[in-house]
Amino acid sequence: MRQNLTERLLFLRAFVTHPTRVGAILPTSRRAVRDMLDLGDVGAANLVVELGAGTGVYTREILARLSPGAKLMALEIDPQLAKLLGEEFSDPRLQVICDSAENLHRHLSGARADMVVSGLPFTSLESDLRRRILDQMVQALAPGGVALVLQYSPFIVKELRLRFGSVKRIISPVNVPPAFLFACSADRTAAAPDASN
Ligand SMILES: C[S@@+](CC[C@H](N)C(=O)[O-])C[C@H]1O[C@@H](n2cnc3c(N)ncnc32)[C@H](O)[C@@H]1O
Repeated sequence: MRQNLTERLLFLRAFVTHPTRVGAILPTSRRAVRDMLDLGDVGAANLVVELGAGTGVYTREILARLSPGAKLMALEIDPQLAKLLGEEFSDPRLQVICDSAENLHRHLSGARADMVVSGLPFTSLESDLRRRILDQMVQALAPGGVALVLQYSPFIVKELRLRFGSVKRIISPVNVPPAFLFACSADRTAAAPDASN
């Protein structure tokens, strides 16, 4: 409980310091995290990349679903949040990196991810930065891989469709505010809940 409060306060402080970079006053709800990860198959992945890990609400659930030999690379730009993540999870499958998601390729050193999970507030990020990160996500995905994106508005869909052959959308209402969840893949036939608008 105290841990939870500390995490929320750290998150709130990060928001007050960098409102457009954090983009929300509360971490994503557990329900929305589960709804989002249900759009892919974490258990089948060898490498999962998380962008904008914050206080680790996705990190925790991804690790719970990840297979024993797989890896999770979590990028978080805020040094205090990255430090918290490193202290919170002592799982050898997890690598926490304090850097911007636009530099993802440097950390992958040629490896490709089966899943990229983004909690980044794309619509409040500066447009060039947003484009660079979206391009990184496409390049980081292994063939057959899926990118999962949470947003608080549907506006990102156009930019996702420019880059991915398949973009499916659902809404997770149990979140403040309600969350738009996107599952994107290069393959037009990839299976995911339908949401074509
Ligand atoms: C809306 S919060 C989401 C945090 C967490 N994933 C969640 O769902 O509660 C966005 C997070 O992305 C981080 N962030 C923003 N821009 C980033 C960037 N360019 N690279 C990596 N992390 C970034 C922020 O510091 C913040 O922790």
